[in-house]
Amino acid sequence: MTGPMGGAGMMGSGWGFLRSMRNEDRIKGRSVNRETVRRILAFARPYRRHVAVFLVIVVLSSIAGVATPVLAGWVVNAITDDGDRRLVVTIALVIAGLAVLDAGLSLVQRLLSARIGEGVILDLRRAVFDHVQRMPLQFFTRTQTGALVSRLNNDVIGAQRAFTSTLSGVVSNVIALVLTAAVMFALSWQITALSLALLPVFILPARWVGRRLAEITRESYQLDATMNAQMTERFGAGGALLVKLFGRLNEEADEFGERARRVRDIGVLSALYSSTFFVALTLVATLAQALTYGLGGWLAISGSVTAGSVVTLALLLTRLYGPLTALSNVRVEVMSALVSFDRVFEVLDLAPSLVDQPDAVDLPAGPGRIEFRDVSFRYPAASEVSLASLEDVAVLDRTTNEPVLRGFSFTVEPGTLVALVGPSGAGKSTTSMLVPRIYDVTDGAVLVNGVDVRGLRAESLRASIGVVTQDAHLFHETLRANLAYARPEATDSDLWEALDRAQLGALIRSLPEGLDTVVGERGYRFSGGEKQRIAIARLLLKGPSIVILDEATAHLDSESEAAVQRALGEALVGRTALVIAHRLSTIRDADEIVVLDDGRIVERGRHEDLVTAGGLYAELYRTQFADSPRSSPGPLAAARAAAGPPQTD
Ligand SMILES: Nc1ncnc2c1ncn2[C@@H]1O[C@H](COP(=O)(O)OP(=O)(O)O)[C@@H](O)[C@H]1O
Ligand SMILES: [Mg+2]
Repeated sequence: MTGPMGGAGMMGSGWGFLRSMRNEDRIKGRSVNRETVRRILAFARPYRRHVAVFLVIVVLSSIAGVATPVLAGWVVNAITDDGDRRLVVTIALVIAGLAVLDAGLSLVQRLLSARIGEGVILDLRRAVFDHVQRMPLQFFTRTQTGALVSRLNNDVIGAQRAFTSTLSGVVSNVIALVLTAAVMFALSWQITALSLALLPVFILPARWVGRRLAEITRESYQLDATMNAQMTERFGAGGALLVKLFGRLNEEADEFGERARRVRDIGVLSALYSSTFFVALTLVATLAQALTYGLGGWLAISGSVTAGSVVTLALLLTRLYGPLTALSNVRVEVMSALVSFDRVFEVLDLAPSLVDQPDAVDLPAGPGRIEFRDVSFRYPAASEVSLASLEDVAVLDRTTNEPVLRGFSFTVEPGTLVALVGPSGAGKSTTSMLVPRIYDVTDGAVLVNGVDVRGLRAESLRASIGVVTQDAHLFHETLRANLAYARPEATDSDLWEALDRAQLGALIRSLPEGLDTVVGERGYRFSGGEKQRIAIARLLLKGPSIVILDEATAHLDSESEAAVQRALGEALVGRTALVIAHRLSTIRDADEIVVLDDGRIVERGRHEDLVTAGGLYAELYRTQFADSPRSSPGPLAAARAAAGPPQTD
C-alpha cells in the first residue's frame, strides 16, 4: 500500500517528529481487539448474502487460476511426448475459455466487493453523523471541527478498506495459496519445499515493517486531521477575518506549511516502508523461480519429473508468492483499517447527551410556564464529553468544573416577562440553556408547564421554545431555507409575513434575489441587526409559547436596536419570556427582574424597587444600563401596545 498522501522530497526529520508526536503513546497504547472485530462483523451482517456469493466466486476464480499453469504443463508434455497437435490446440482452447471465465468472475468479484465496501461506508457515515449530532453542546465547543470532519472522512474510508482488503485480499489469497501449494506439492514436493525455503528469511522483517506501517498510518491520519483543522478554522469567514485583521497571513502560512510538511514526511516514510517491502518480496519470488528452473530442469533431464511439471511449478510459484506478498501486505492494510474502525467506534462510543427517557411524555399543552426549582449546575469535565484526539491535546482535563449555578428558584408565569440580569459570567446564559434542555441540571429541576424537562420528549419540548441569542447562527443557504428551518411547510406568504413583523420586509424586498438571497457563511452577508431580525423572523415562524432571548440586542447600534426592539415586541406578544438583557429598555417593563451573581439570585423585584434598594442592580443600572437609549420603547412595552392592556401582572 502507499500512504494516504504521496509526495516526494527528503524525509529529513521523519523519525524525529514521529517520536515527538504528542499523541503517539496514546495511539500506540490502543490495540485492535476482539471487541472491535465483533463490532465490525455487526456492520457486515446486512451484507452476508453478498459476502457468500463473493466467496463462491473467489473459490471458482482461484480454481481457474491454478488450472491454467497445470494446463500449460500439459501442453509442454504434449509437445515433448508425441507431438499431438489436436491435443495441444484443445488444451490451448480450454486455457482461453478459462481466461474468459476468469475475467468475468473478476468483474463480478470487484463489483461485489465495491458494493459491500461502499455499503459499509454508507452505514458508518450515517451512524457517525447521527451520533455526533446528538453529542452534548460541550462536545462541539471543545472539538476542532476540522479534526472531526477529517475523522468522518478518512477513518470511515479507512474502515471500509478493512472489508474490501480482508475479503478480496485475505480470503481470496488464502484460498489461492492453499490450492496452489496443494497442487505444487502433488507435482513435486522436493522442488516445492526447496523453493519455499527462502520464505522464512522474510517473514520476520516483514512483520516488523508491517507493524511500523500500521503505526505510520495512524500517525498520518492524525497529522491529516491537524492540517484539516487549521484549514476549516481559518477558512471560515470569522477566522479569515481575524487572520487578516491581525496581519498574520505569513505566520498562518508558515504554520500550515509546517503541518503540511509533516504530512509529506510521513507520506514519504510510508511509501518507503511499503515499497521496501514489495521490492523485497518480488525479489524472493524471482529467486525462488530461478531455483525451480535450475533444480527442476536438473531433475527433468534425469527423468524424475516431466518438463511440463517444471513449467507448471515455475508458473505456480508466481501464484504462490503473489498471494504471499499480498497477504503480508494485507495484514498491514487490515491492521490500519481496523485502526480506522477503532477511531470511528471511539466517536460512536462517546455518550450522547440527554437521551429521551423511555417513559418520556410530550409537553402538556399550556400557555408556557417555566419554573426553576433549587437549580444547581456545573459544566461536565472535558473527560466526560470529549475525545483528546479531536481536541488536539494529549490528555483530557479531568478536573471537575466549579458549580456555575448554585441553587436558586424562580418562576416565569404564563404570558409574563422575566428579565435575568447580572454581571458577565454570572450564569445567565447557562440558566437559559437549561430550559430547552441543552444541558441538564446537576441538582434541582427545571419544569416547563409543570413537568420536569428531563421527563419530556426533547422534540416536543423544543418545539414550544424559541431562542434568539446574541450571535444568531444562519446556515450558508438561502434566506428561504434558513427561515423554513423553523417551519418547513411555511408558504412564501408566511415567510413574508414573518419578515414584515420582524421589520425586515422592506429590506429583503429590495434585494435583487429576495428570499433566494444566500446569507453567506454564518450570515456574513447581513449586518448584526439584520441577522438578529432574521433570527426573530425565524422565531415568529416557529411560533413557540416560550421565548428566550439571550442578549439579543447586545452589540447593536441604537438604530438597529430600535428595529430589533420592534421586532422583538412582535415576538413577545402573548408569550412567556425569559429575557437576558444588557439594555435598560428591555428590562424596565419586565414583570420581574431576577439579579444573578455568581450563580445565585441576589435580588429580585421590579425596576423602580431595585433601583431604590441600591444593591447590585442599582450599580449595574448606573454602570451598564443607564447609557442605553431611553427613547426607544422596550419590547414589552411594544408588545403590550400591540396586545392591549396586560391581563396578568
Ligand atoms: N461550555 C462551558 N464549559 C465550562 N464552563 C463554562 C461553559 N460555558 C460557560 N462556562 C462558565 O460558566 C460561567 C457562567 O457563564 P454564562 O452562563 O455564559 O454567564 P453569563 O451569560 O451570565 O455571562 C462562566 O464562569 C463561564 O466561564
Ligand atoms: Mg451570556
